Parts: sequence; structure tokens; C-alpha cells
Amino acid sequence: MLRRLHPDQPERFTFTPANQAWAEAQITKYPEGRQASAIVPLLWRAQEQEGWLTRPAIEYVCDMLGMAHIRGLEVATFYFMFQLQPVGAVAHIQVCGTTSCMICGAEDLVGVCRDKIARHPHQISADGKFSWEEVECLGACANAPMAQIGKDYYEDLTATRLGRIIDGMAAGKIPTPGPQNGRYASEPASGLTSLKDHATGKDSLNISARRARDIGDTIKRIDGTEVPLVANWGKQSGGTAAKDPARPAPGASN
Ligand code: FES
Repeated sequence: MLRRLHPDQPERFTFTPANQAWAEAQITKYPEGRQASAIVPLLWRAQEQEGWLTRPAIEYVCDMLGMAHIRGLEVATFYFMFQLQPVGAVAHIQVCGTTSCMICGAEDLVGVCRDKIARHPHQISADGKFSWEEVECLGACANAPMAQIGKDYYEDLTATRLGRIIDGMAAGKIPTPGPQNGRYASEPASGLTSLKDHATGKDSLNISARRARDIGDTIKRIDGTEVPLVANWGKQSGGTAAKDPARPAPGASN
């Protein structure tokens, strides 16, 4: 995949005061002389602040870390987690198109993105809310096909389900991440065949999906009103069934 900087770049970049303090604190995690190792978290924070990674942001981070600009450009253009062009204001959807997902229906998911968002990857939808791209394996192959949206994974997707997720996000909702076909994690689709006691009394969501739901910042940008990093477990968890009207019941098909 050819990854180039966008032709239209802003004049300058600066971290917000809170993000500047956060970035400076990250740098202290590394031994003297190894500050360049903080490049990925700092670039990521810059992207979270702006929505995408601009050339001034890359250069600003390089200056903070005492690195030549070309080294920051090498990192930013290598990892596809870094968006080198503007993205949708609500969400950028990354559909996995590698083997497991491709066999299980990734092309249908891409079709949904083409129909609902824009004909071509990295094109912003007419309403400015969404953009999409096809990416390489995201490491959730046992729950193929899947997509990363914002900070979370939506797994065991169907075209119908992805369409509903996009519609939900357009309406200001955040559908619960994790498996979308009622699976708890990556057990057989027909249910557990062994160690069934393990399932007794457990939460309807696995720990990752539960936490993502409790924190609720799947598509939230850094804007100074960040939710706490630790979710309010006592209030929102506790083994109860998920109350997500858009989420199918276990065993339901879409
Ligand atoms: Fe899609 Fe691995 S092939 S997550």
C-alpha cells in the first residue's frame, strides 16, 4: 500500500496544554538517550487530538524527541494505524481484508462501506461523518470477519450488522464492541463443548467488550473531557445482561 502525506497540510501543530504535559510525562518513561522510543505514543496522541496525523504534527513530535524529521516520517508512513489524510468526523472504519476475514465475508463489509460511506477508501462521506479503508490482519482472525472502529474491535460481523453499527454511530450511539453474533469470545459458534462450568453465571460480554462498553470512548476524540481510564465497575458491571437494543441476542443471526 502506498502511504503518502496528504497534499493539503495545516500551517502548524501544537499539543493542547494537557496533551503536552501527557507527552512530556511519556518521554520520562525511557532511559536517557532512548527518548526516541516514545515516538509511537506521541504520534498516536497527536492523531487523537487532530483526527489524523499531519506533517507539522510529525515534525513537532520529532523536535520534542530530538529526532531528524525523516525518522518520524518513516514511522508515520510505515504503520497503517496512523492516518495520513483527514478522516470522517465520527469514525474511520478499518475493515480487515486478510485471509480469514476475506473467506468469511470481508468483501461484503467493504461493500457496505462503499454503499454507506464512500466509493473509495480514504474518501470522506458526503456528510463528513465517516471514512473507511481495508487493512491487513488485525489479529482477531478467530472472530472473522471483523473491523476496527475507533479504539475497539467489532467481530463476527455481517453486512447487515455493520450497516446497523454505522447507522447507530451516525445517530450518536456507540453499539457495543466485541463479537456481534452472540458469541462470548472465540468459542465454537454452536457453543461450548467442554469446560461448560466456566460459563455459569458469567457476564454476557467478555472482559474486553464489557470494558469498552463501560468506558464508552470507542469513537471519542481527545478534546479535554476524557473519560477516566478506569471504568466505574461497581456501577456498570456485575454480570448482568447487556442492555444494548441494537445487539442481537446470543444465537441470533443477522
Ligand atoms: Fe482478519 Fe486476522 S484475518 S483479523
